[in-house]
Amino acid sequence: MKRTEVYAHRGFSAMAPENTMAAFQRAVDAGADGVELDVHLTKDNKVVVIHDETVKRTTDGTGKVRELTLEELRRLDAGSWFDPEFKGEKIPTLEEVLQLVAEHGMKINIELKNNRVIYPELEQKVANLLQQYGLVKQAVISSFNHYSLKVMKQVQPEIDTAILYMEGLVDPWVYAKHAGATSLHPYWYTVVEEVVKGCQKENLPVRPFTVNQPKGMRRLLQLGVDAIITDKPDVLREEMEKTAA
Ligand code: G3P
Ligand code: MG
Repeated sequence: MKRTEVYAHRGFSAMAPENTMAAFQRAVDAGADGVELDVHLTKDNKVVVIHDETVKRTTDGTGKVRELTLEELRRLDAGSWFDPEFKGEKIPTLEEVLQLVAEHGMKINIELKNNRVIYPELEQKVANLLQQYGLVKQAVISSFNHYSLKVMKQVQPEIDTAILYMEGLVDPWVYAKHAGATSLHPYWYTVVEEVVKGCQKENLPVRPFTVNQPKGMRRLLQLGVDAIITDKPDVLREEMEKTAA
């Protein structure tokens, strides 16, 4: 059986402010296989890494990402809200993170936040950047907006796309295939043996999110999921070592 991969959710977000270079660097240092991050488009159509549609929760500014230019966003402090130690962290561009990921031969899960705000051509822009950094094969694109994933496959047929979902779907592999996706990122509570087995039969990787408790990690490791997305890659690695021992 293949080893379960470790994806650091929004970077190593238990240790550093989510979706900042500090969090991604710590994920590298912790030996994560990959990082998960969220992307939006700025007013001047640049792909930036931030979770919410607005900057309020994770910076010292206010306003919608879509209504601010990259230059305006880069002036914001995206670190102090987490801890004064991280004062001066910036909202990264996707390019900055791709550079780090490429340097370290890591994997990357880009979540398209094409939900409340629909960003035209976000898929094409992300595909172009992945191509530019030679990361198409190391990337998986996920979204709660499955129409956006369909567009992504049209734009870049080779790329792995993953449906994100929250509830206990019946035969989710049937739906995933119907939607044209090539993997599944379910909310971890919904992942039972039947789901893992059904997906394995169809060769569709399952990567549950966001698993932070050792007990949940152990259960999913035993089920043989392909990856686990976690805020705490250090805890997951410890659990994996114990399971292997
Ligand atoms: O991609 C998994 C997870 O990040 C989805 O939810 O809200 O943390 O982006 P959220
Ligand atoms: Mg996310």
